Amino acid sequence: MDLTIEGQLYRDGAFEHGSIAIKQGKIVAIKKTIKTDNHLNVGNKLILPAGIDLHVHFRDPGFTHKEDFWTGSQAAAFGGISCVFDMPNTHPPTTTIDALKQKKQIASKKSVVDFGVYAAVCDENIGRIGELAPLCNGFKIFLGSTTHSLKLSNHHLQVALREINRTKKITLFHAEDEFCLKTHMDREQTLVDHIRCRAAECEETALKNILTNAAGLSSPIHICHLSSCEGFEMIRKRSPNISVGVTPHHLFFDVQSIKTKQTFFKVNPPIRSSFDRDALWYGVNKRHIDIFESDHAPHTEEEKNVDFDSAPSGLPGVETLYPLLLFAMKKGNITLDMLLALLCERPAQLLGIPKGKIEIGRDADFIAVDLKKTEKIAAEHLHSKCGWTPFEGFPGIFPSVMFIRGEKVVDDHQLLVKQGFGNCVGV
Ligand code: DOR
Ligand code: ZN
Repeated sequence: MDLTIEGQLYRDGAFEHGSIAIKQGKIVAIKKTIKTDNHLNVGNKLILPAGIDLHVHFRDPGFTHKEDFWTGSQAAAFGGISCVFDMPNTHPPTTTIDALKQKKQIASKKSVVDFGVYAAVCDENIGRIGELAPLCNGFKIFLGSTTHSLKLSNHHLQVALREINRTKKITLFHAEDEFCLKTHMDREQTLVDHIRCRAAECEETALKNILTNAAGLSSPIHICHLSSCEGFEMIRKRSPNISVGVTPHHLFFDVQSIKTKQTFFKVNPPIRSSFDRDALWYGVNKRHIDIFESDHAPHTEEEKNVDFDSAPSGLPGVETLYPLLLFAMKKGNITLDMLLALLCERPAQLLGIPKGKIEIGRDADFIAVDLKKTEKIAAEHLHSKCGWTPFEGFPGIFPSVMFIRGEKVVDDHQLLVKQGFGNCVGV
């Protein structure tokens, strides 16, 4: 054994004081008392599995003035996320073998958390899915235009899904229908205009199209960032290989509650009404939603501080994902079981990685956290290069210690590993 960690362990629905033994980065034993020379007792703090964020935009390469793998992965680490999966709308876009190799090289050099990468399937590379599959953790399909996006036309969807199905990789969807978006396109001055232009109907249409084309396929399909009542109704009945994610910004905001700095909350799909928000919470609590994801999509304050029409869509969130949800759990909005399922276990299962649960044989990725220590979220304490957060002033519960593969990565606001500690997972 290399190390033992002692604290309040959450297992099978209850807390009990116990110890975890770790060897070569893996959990090898979980017992009431077990101790090596290298022993860490976190006292009454809770030891929980680290989170997994299957949806981040770390902007590297190409847009590193907004974020890069060094700053983005630090934000993840301080927020208790041990593994991230990066989206392909970088520059060059991750649509070729070379671009996938380049991004993995960059991430291997810079990341302090483990990572995976997605390839985009767009109109230009639809014939290359088989070649790309061994190099990526999954495929992202944008059915509608968004920031730096790579669209796939509806008439290519069936072929794309069938090809991906042969590779057995996961497909992640940005579900807003391009034709519908074009129909609603107009001048936008406010967030209410943004909802009108990116109507819930566009999400509904895209989802219908995905469900129709996915019929009979068995590879995993993930619907990213569900945002509307209409979308929720559409996905209630779906086959078991289809999962659905929600983001904190769609769960914690509604359009009426945002009075100032409107461009900072401009995001696709949009933050909608309180009815939509409540439908998403209902979906979480009734187990229709499978995943919590941040959709961490940073832009600089300078880029956001322009007139509404010109502002880019997207907001940061990887560092606040787990803390916001831990606080929501403390308040009784979700159970701890649900939180850990949606933030740790299900993403690990979907991406096929041995993380996400305190269980013998899995990676020793944990956080230690004191639920009594609620902090006010403040951008000045966060690590994203963009320097702001939509959740300024919100209560959050941050982990004090974070382990990845048995290595202490964060302890008491200090980063303890070097750039490049993070490993590429799964491929
Ligand atoms: O608002 C968004 N921003 N939605 C997306 O789909 C992309 C993202 C970005 O990359 O900025
Ligand atoms: Zn995204």
